[in-house]
Order: sequence, then structure tokens, then C-alpha cells
Amino acid sequence: MTIFIAFPGYEELCHKIYNQFKNTGSTAILGELIIRNFPDGETFVRLNTEVKNSDVILICGLDNPDQKAIALMFIANFVKEQGCIRIGIVAPYLGYMRQDKSFNPGEVVTSKIFAKFLSEHFDWLVTIDPHLHRYNTLSDIYSIPAKALHAAGSIATWVVNNVSNPILIGPDSESNQWVSEIAGLSGLPYIIMEKKRYSDVDVSISSPDLDSYKNCSPVILDDIISTGRTMIEVIKHLKQVRMADPICIGVHAIFSADSYEELLKAGAKRVITCNTIKHISNEIDISNLIVENIL
Ligand code: R5P
Repeated sequence: MTIFIAFPGYEELCHKIYNQFKNTGSTAILGELIIRNFPDGETFVRLNTEVKNSDVILICGLDNPDQKAIALMFIANFVKEQGCIRIGIVAPYLGYMRQDKSFNPGEVVTSKIFAKFLSEHFDWLVTIDPHLHRYNTLSDIYSIPAKALHAAGSIATWVVNNVSNPILIGPDSESNQWVSEIAGLSGLPYIIMEKKRYSDVDVSISSPDLDSYKNCSPVILDDIISTGRTMIEVIKHLKQVRMADPICIGVHAIFSADSYEELLKAGAKRVITCNTIKHISNEIDISNLIVENIL
């Protein structure tokens, strides 16, 4: 028996995954989890589902990881105490992947420590397009089986079905891995721009010659949209070279502060994301990708 448990905020995705999982003929139920804070800020967790001798799968994206980590630790410890067979975590977005180096003296490489924390409490992890830059694979830092799935196929299908004459644009060398895969799957042309980041919100972009793509519909692709600065600088650059307003596609809709609105104000024709983090821009469903990989 497999028990799917949604961390608060992940109910919709959990239901989708659960329904598709059941349609494969596998036995599963939905667990009921309650999490709230006591008046003093401490975390209260209650699981209203018997987990003994079951496989437990927790659906919990790790955006805002600091607000979830304590509850995750409590849940994982509790279900193990209750005699579950294994507890896995499906984290469609995996946080703490970008601090993969000490850029300045004294900076903590939080990606490694966070990976150690999750590895200590869970038996396996499945995620989508983690920000692998200086690490080659998740197993560089995760000691449990950790699978990185790719939304490239779903994004390629969306672009082919929704955009005529597209040119795919990656904002920086890190995006090359995602953009080239989507281009390979869709047969569409792509270019990679050059990005310099001076601070969290200060980014500059330069590009190779775009002359031959002047009449194409630009589609900017990135794994994460957080402050939106990366995409906004690409939009500004496209305006300077007189290209059409672009469609911006991100796998993970982090959108800190007003970045979604700012992106639209800056001239994005549309902003589209995958449903790894619940957001109004979610248009590409990745639940089937997850189900195929947890069966
Ligand atoms: C970093 O290199 C990532 O691939 C994204 O480009 C970055 O996280 C986007 O962040 P922001 O929206 O804050 O510019």
C-alpha cells in the first residue's frame, strides 16, 4: 500500500499524482496531514492516517525551505516510528541548490548541508530540474537515491503547440542544459545569451548576433524565475535589437515580491511555468512525469 501525503499547499498536485498512480492499478490512499503553529511559533503536526507497513510518499515542494524544514523532520521521524516501510519525498522544486560554492570567505555551502539534512530523514527523493550547476548530479551531495527529472519534454510540447516560428533563448550558460534539450526535442533553433550577475537584483545580459532571428517569436527559457531580473534584462535586450515581445517560460515559479507583475510590465507577452510551485502562471503539468518515475 502506498500512502500519498500532501504538505499544506501541495494538495492539488498530490491529488493529481495520486489519481494517476491509482489509474495504473496500484493500491494507494491519500493521507491526512495537519500542520499549524502554536501561538509561540512552534510547529504542531498531526497525521490522521495509519502508516504501518506502508510506503509513504510526501509531496512537498522545497520553495521557502526554511518554513518547511522542521515540519518535514517531524513528519519523517513520526512515520518511521510508526513502522512505515519507506518514506520518500517528491519535491517538484528543490531549494538550496544555488549556493553550491563559497563565493566569498565564510559563506556556508548550504546546498550540501541541506542535502545531508534531507538524506538523514528521507529514504529517497524525486525532483524536477534541480539547479545543477557546479554539481554534476544530485548524488554528489545526496546520500539517498535522488532522481532529477526533466520538464524539457513537456515544455517542448507546449512551445510547439502554442508558438509559431519560435526562437528559444537561454539567458546564460547555466540555462544551456535545459534550452539545448528542449531544442533537441522540438527541433527548434536556440541561442544562449551571456549573463553577468553583480548582486541578487543586478544582472546584465549580452547576446550573440540576433539578425537572422529578427522575424521569429522569442521564447526565453530558464529553470527558475525568482526576482525576474534575469528575464527582464533579456526582454530589455530584445527590445534594443527590435525583436517581438517574448514569451517567458520558467520551470519553477518562485516569483519573489512583485516579480511576476514586473515581468509583464517589462514587456513579456506571456509568462508560463510548470506546476512545480503553485502559481497563476502554471500552464505546463508535470504530474504525469512524476507518476512515471515513482511507480
Ligand atoms: C541561475 O542561474 C538560474 O538559472 C536563474 O537564471 C536565476 O535563478 C533566475 O533568478 P532571477 O529571476 O532572480 O534573476
